[in-house]
Amino acid sequence: MSEAKRLAAEKAMDYVEDGMLVGVGTGSTVAYFIDALGRDPHRIKGAVSSSEQSTARLKSHGIEVFDLNPAGQLALYVDGADECDPHKRLIKGGGAALTREKIIAEASHKFVCIVDPSKQVDVLGRFPLPVEVIPMARSLVAREIAALTGGQPVFRMDAEERAVITDNGNVILDIHQLSITDPVAMEQAINQIPGVVSVGLFARRAADVVIVGGEPPVVL
Ligand code: 5RP
Repeated sequence: MSEAKRLAAEKAMDYVEDGMLVGVGTGSTVAYFIDALGRDPHRIKGAVSSSEQSTARLKSHGIEVFDLNPAGQLALYVDGADECDPHKRLIKGGGAALTREKIIAEASHKFVCIVDPSKQVDVLGRFPLPVEVIPMARSLVAREIAALTGGQPVFRMDAEERAVITDNGNVILDIHQLSITDPVAMEQAINQIPGVVSVGLFARRAADVVIVGGEPPVVL
């Protein structure tokens, strides 16, 4: 699938204009996009980054990284996804960067989502839904989400069985066994639980454009 990811990322360059400040997501598909931006790093003004990982890659190409606060509204945000439904609603957060990704998506006029074909689903929920949580609320939030959704929350650990800590100092619950027929309602309901920082459902603010990598890429 890496070639499909690269092709989607290359197609996203069609949306990049000279002098732009570009919002940049996180993940392996976005890494191809950053590398494409890096071929001519001074064509854009710079980037607003959604993670330490993307910031490091952007800087390695000589692309200046700006804070979102003084930047104001961005014209363009490019990011990947873990799942995408026919309405361009997404599950994101497989890379634990969902909160900053959601903030930049909200701050952007156009959200272009780049995926390989394996990410397309009819109904969201096959990929476990990431939720970023304040550490002290982990068990409370897990109980409430289980009662609310019927899903099974799993505390995300790394390969050494240590808790995954986000760039914001929080932890991740991955909610398994969901079939999300009303993503907007589920996003709103999970957001209401005290201790939830953000949920990886991008339904209220879905993508504007989805590019599915292939020969040729498909633009939805
Ligand atoms: C990170 C994300 C990523 O966009 C998502 O996990 C897709 O990653 P990849 O491009 O590596 O398949 O939401 O939090």
